[in-house]
Amino acid sequence: MTKPIYVLNGPNLNLLGTREPEIYGHETLDDIRDSLIETAADRRIDFRQTNFEGELVTWVQEASREGAALILNAGAYTHTSIALHDALRACTVPIIEVHLSNPAGREAFRQTNYVAPAAAATIAGLGARGYHFALDAAIRMTA
Ligand code: DQA
Repeated sequence: MTKPIYVLNGPNLNLLGTREPEIYGHETLDDIRDSLIETAADRRIDFRQTNFEGELVTWVQEASREGAALILNAGAYTHTSIALHDALRACTVPIIEVHLSNPAGREAFRQTNYVAPAAAATIAGLGARGYHFALDAAIRMTA
């Protein structure tokens, strides 16, 4: 059976819909998950969210072993986590980084990025649609 595409979400993304909607939009994470699963057709999606750094690291390791590709919105861990960076460097499947907002145009503390150097591509600033572009890319990269 084809391996699933992992879609991993980091801290505070469980609050989507109510968290600063002027920046992150009105769609909830469940809305995003449901529309991705609908779009993915015959490709399996393993969609998860955690507020814990170590859990995210463990899931990245799992995605490398058991997934076809990894779509990752690491939230604030993007800007802080060397542990996540190391896990991503060890990951052997394609990684596509996603952000709803465009961190490059935001605060100085968001200009450090520990995910991008390990990713094949970054999609940022397109809101929830960014996840769909990432899924399209992941499907084409692993067809
Ligand atoms: C985010 C951007 C990060 O800087 C922020 O910490 C988030 C969300 C985004 O999707 O735009 O939690 O990853």
